[in-house]
Amino acid sequence: MARSNPGLLLGLLLLRLTWCVAVDGGGVEEGGFVFPVVVSTWPFREAVRAAWDVVKTGGAGGSAVDAVVAGCSACEELRCDGTVGPGGSPDENGETTLDALIMNGKTMEIGAVAAMRYVKDAIMAAKLVMEHTGHTLLVGEKATSFAISMGLAGPTDLSSPESIEKWSNWRQNNCQPNFWKNVAPAGNCGPYHPINIPKDPVKSAVWEDQGITCQEWLQNDNLLEPTSSHFNSVNRHNHDTISMAVIDKMGHVAVGTSTNGATFKIPGRVGDGPIPGSSAYGDDEVGACGATGDGDIMMRFLPCYQVVESMRLGMEPRDAAVDAISRIARKYPDFVGAVFAINKKGVHAGACHGWTFQYSVRNSSMQDVEVITVTP
Ligand SMILES: *[C@@H]1O[C@H](CO)[C@@H](O)[C@H](O)[C@H]1NC(C)=O
Repeated sequence: MARSNPGLLLGLLLLRLTWCVAVDGGGVEEGGFVFPVVVSTWPFREAVRAAWDVVKTGGAGGSAVDAVVAGCSACEELRCDGTVGPGGSPDENGETTLDALIMNGKTMEIGAVAAMRYVKDAIMAAKLVMEHTGHTLLVGEKATSFAISMGLAGPTDLSSPESIEKWSNWRQNNCQPNFWKNVAPAGNCGPYHPINIPKDPVKSAVWEDQGITCQEWLQNDNLLEPTSSHFNSVNRHNHDTISMAVIDKMGHVAVGTSTNGATFKIPGRVGDGPIPGSSAYGDDEVGACGATGDGDIMMRFLPCYQVVESMRLGMEPRDAAVDAISRIARKYPDFVGAVFAINKKGVHAGACHGWTFQYSVRNSSMQDVEVITVTP
């Protein structure tokens, strides 16, 4: 049949190729029915062990929420990959700021901090927001003041010799690459001013009619190359997050994330890390999800909310993960990201796009943390 219609065959092949690029399946592991279980993005073994140590004991001291805090705190202390905790991912001013989120899947309470300065214990600050305020998200220096008033250490310098060195090298390289687009820099490193490049001749003609201001503007365009150097090689070391999910012995779900954001971000940028439903989401009735990758894009799709809601409607974790990733890939074929999903049967899976993803799992039939690789 296909032979009689080469066009159709080619079409099917192309469809198939696009699908392979877009959905990045694999890594499915059938799980058992016994809790607890801990899942985390990346081979953050120490973080999973720390969470496991809390949750394996069960009882009041072994809640899913406490385990998530222990796991994410371990990563903050170890500065996992330089992208969690203090000392990494300097922004354009060379400063490190932190983002974190925690969610209790029993009550659907959430606490989060974003662009928090001068306090290194990001996940603990998020937990304080969840447990001691009626709010969900505190930002910037106000988050700092809150965290310190609630007893966390600070103010502390969050930069490290490595982050300062990285930043000076970037400055010397004319602040390339950066996250600006459609701008003209006044100097090598800004300040930047918006430019709008006319896209069609009709529009250009209209602009020229608008007289001297526009004329000058267009001339400026000719003098200065527009800057549009958004990172096209997002990788683990400039865009990364620990996102962790725990189901405790009681079957309660908690999720959490911690990150220092994107390297050389524009100050004030908040990524997907502290955004509920984007970097993580969990519900006792269904299961949980964690995400990592190009947060600026991923947060437009709330992939973890999507994963959990798809599982609620009966999808297997693998299908839900692939579906969430492919929704993003259809609109942004070049995006880089991944999710893991775990349901209430302990079945876990991952899906990724644009990079090879790994996630870590510990459950009661494993001797130690296992790292699962998911290929695009
Ligand atoms: C633990 O996970 C493995 C695969 O990752 C699975 O085979 C096993 O059944 C799980 N055990 C439990 C108790 O869920």
